[in-house]
Amino acid sequence: STSRFVRIVEVGPRDGLQNEKTVVSPDVKVELINRLQAAGLPTIEAGSFVSPKWVPQMAGTDDILRRITHSSATKYPVLVPNSKGLTNLLDLLKSSPTPLTDEIAVFTAPSESFSKANTNCTVAESLERLSHVVQVAQDNGLRVRGYVSTVITCPYEGRIEPHAVREVAKALLDMGCYEVSLGDTTGAGTPQTILEMLNAVQQHVDASKLAAHWHDTCGTAIANVMAALSAGIRVVDSSVAGLGGCPYSPGATGNVATEDVVHVLHGDGWETGVDMSKLAATGDWISRELGRPNESRAGRAWLAK
Ligand code: HMG
Ligand code: MG
Repeated sequence: STSRFVRIVEVGPRDGLQNEKTVVSPDVKVELINRLQAAGLPTIEAGSFVSPKWVPQMAGTDDILRRITHSSATKYPVLVPNSKGLTNLLDLLKSSPTPLTDEIAVFTAPSESFSKANTNCTVAESLERLSHVVQVAQDNGLRVRGYVSTVITCPYEGRIEPHAVREVAKALLDMGCYEVSLGDTTGAGTPQTILEMLNAVQQHVDASKLAAHWHDTCGTAIANVMAALSAGIRVVDSSVAGLGGCPYSPGATGNVATEDVVHVLHGDGWETGVDMSKLAATGDWISRELGRPNESRAGRAWLAK
């Protein structure tokens, strides 16, 4: 039944690759997205329309959107930081004879210093910028997902108050985001601190509007996924092979690995629509392409069978 369904948002091609030292060729990015689609991931974040000076790994997302094999069952959101990025995306969409994406994601944070480091503006300026971006995106038929970073700790400010997370999450929903993904950017969360934060957010926001975006820096991400499920959240962001990190969060490792999430969910009787064999093979392949270890324990175990 649908009540046992968890939607996985695969962020490897964006959150993963944006922080890998190796800049991956367009061919590899296209193959990665096509393989993830074939493995059954319903949503694949395909890249960003950010400044290539800030994040060179994400240059060429327009080319990637044109070249992937589009499935009508799959969403291909792209991250957009500002009006300039949205204009670039809309120009691309208008020039394409076929639909390339109908969704963007915007991001902000409750922490002033992280906002400055990640987007070169204050939190208030960021919300003002984004409300314009969301408005124009919606006027052009795009759905918008919101991200809140640093929901547990900030690399510069330390502990973040749960009510500050709630205010920013609410602001994103009020401006028109259909869902807000809560990012434990530093991976400092534990099940109890995650639940305290969620409890504060859920005083004003329904669980159906929230997603869990946990980085696995301290090895607690899977435990935190289970905590989010127990709080009623049914959308989990993850990255194949645990790729990535965050360029503005020193020492942060990648997102929770998609293979690990699929393993624990299927083992506990949840449905995801993801084919573990195809997913694990994809994680192994992209790790080799990057010349890095496969960070997914469940992926490695599956391949060793
Ligand atoms: P800025 O330098 O303040 O921007 O950066 P600006 O408006 O002054 O423009 C400076 C130059 O960048 C100009 O070019 C612009 O045209 C260009 P110049 O005149 O010098 O040649 N520019 C752009 N080019 C392409 N696309 C654009 C764009 N915007 C400006 N969109 C800006 C402000 C927001 C652009 C910059 O800070 C930026 O790109 N930041 C992106 C940072 C980023 O991508 N971070 C990672 C994603 S967030 C994340 O990973 C967290 C998440 O996973 C959740 C979690 O885990 O916490 C989502
Ligand atoms: Mg992230």
